[in-house]
Amino acid sequence: MQNDLGVEPPRADRPDEPSRVDGGRRGALKVLCALGGAAYAGAIVVPAVKMLAPSSEGGAGAARWMRVCRLADLTEGEPRRVVVVGDERDAYTVTRDQLLGSIWLTKKGEGVTALSAVCPHLGCSIDLNADKKSFFCPCHTSRFSLAGAAEAGPSPRDMDPLTVRVVEGNVEVDFKLFRQGIAERKEVG
Ligand code: FES
Repeated sequence: MQNDLGVEPPRADRPDEPSRVDGGRRGALKVLCALGGAAYAGAIVVPAVKMLAPSSEGGAGAARWMRVCRLADLTEGEPRRVVVVGDERDAYTVTRDQLLGSIWLTKKGEGVTALSAVCPHLGCSIDLNADKKSFFCPCHTSRFSLAGAAEAGPSPRDMDPLTVRVVEGNVEVDFKLFRQGIAERKEVG
């Protein structure tokens, strides 16, 4: 899949494999279709690359590092949404280039914070307010601070934070999904 510079990054999980042009285009189309309803004027979407660790090693509690963008793509203090695209695996099959979710990233100095864009209430996609001073969920009007604290609406907990690391200028997120509708933060395996 090409990034916003028009360059197809290497597959992080298979760095020696040549680019798959057709598969990449199909994957990009799927992502664009999935995001069509979530497009928002203040949100810039950065295409993400494949997962670094196979999901077959995953399950609740296991790290699933995903490279999502370059640190240089982020503006200090300004939340930016990135999508996560990777392979879905079960015991028998691997489905390539699936939209796994989206994340809000905020650069703070040399570090980055990440919040899942999945609303803890019922799973709608959380957006950035036009003034860029808070997040909101369009489904049932939950509101969150830029730090992810629930401030209004039915969300039973704060936005879900994700662990971030920066490796050689690449932002990587330990991607996880959590149960919705409950106050406790419980990872979905
Ligand atoms: S799904 Fe977000 S407030 Fe209901």
